[in-house]
Amino acid sequence: MAYNLLKGKKGIIFGALNEQSIAWKVAQRCHEEGAEIVLTNSPLALRMGELNKLAEECNAPVIPADVTSTEDINNLFTKSLEHFGGGVDFILHSIGMSVNVRKGLPYAENNYEFTHKGLDISALSFHRVLQTAMKMDAINEWGSVLALTYIAAQRVFPDYNDMADNKAYLESIARNFGYQYGVKKHVRINTVSQSPTRTTAGSGVKGFDGFINYAEKMSPLGNADANQCADYCVTLFSDLTRMVTMQNLFHDGGFSFTGVTQAVIEQMEK
Ligand SMILES: NC(=O)c1ccc[n+]([C@@H]2O[C@H](COP(=O)([O-])OP(=O)(O)OC[C@H]3O[C@@H](n4cnc5c(N)ncnc54)[C@H](O)[C@@H]3O)[C@@H](O)[C@H]2O)c1
Repeated sequence: MAYNLLKGKKGIIFGALNEQSIAWKVAQRCHEEGAEIVLTNSPLALRMGELNKLAEECNAPVIPADVTSTEDINNLFTKSLEHFGGGVDFILHSIGMSVNVRKGLPYAENNYEFTHKGLDISALSFHRVLQTAMKMDAINEWGSVLALTYIAAQRVFPDYNDMADNKAYLESIARNFGYQYGVKKHVRINTVSQSPTRTTAGSGVKGFDGFINYAEKMSPLGNADANQCADYCVTLFSDLTRMVTMQNLFHDGGFSFTGVTQAVIEQMEK
């Protein structure tokens, strides 16, 4: 059901790769709620070709940008502002990648070149996007910016590897840039800490099946899925949440504040 929560709003959505992607669902929900959007992903992801399907469905242009390139981000904002004839009201950063995870190097044996690359893509890119937007004055007053994160930023999940450090950095950028952009232009910046979700990035984590089943059992409401995450993002892009900023918001069915559940106790007693 649509509520027209984003009627008249314009936004940029990073990170829709395929139908499983959280950003894919967010783009669909934003479109349903009346927003106009620009879609972006790395040139490599665009070559896979699936994004065109979403672009057609949402009537959205696709502008390639590798988030590690300031030039690409500049170009993305320049073209988006041209397309919209003005600034944007919301941005979704839905990007994560660890070369150490991909290559199967455990945390204690990380290769630092890989670590740098993953940090650049997964966390520093958020700063780069915000800095470029601020320089170009690309976000409208009371705009809303979100990045997706995971609770491994606060608690240890050994196989999440260096992505845990990347997410801690990402959440810190949301707080610190949230202060700067809030004072300057009432732009709000938050992170959404999502349940484990079956996507290309998610499934890359070692032992993902055990991980997602454990979270399901440890959450009073069960795991939040990608469509539910999209619903939550829509509320945070809307005018109904204008005073929320610099927060890490758990969207996880209660997992983050649960010590143990009956289901887990029963499993342990077996
Ligand atoms: N899936 C989960 O379990 C889960 C849980 C919590 C948070 N998250 C976070 O949600 C976000 C989206 O991930 P997802 O699960 O939808 O997976 P996904 O694989 O669909 O999305 C990751 C995206 O990052 C993009 N990307 C990678 N390198 C890039 C680059 N250099 N430039 C531009 N884009 C680049 C990929 O093309 C892809 O679209 C990530 O930040 C992820 O860490 C995922």
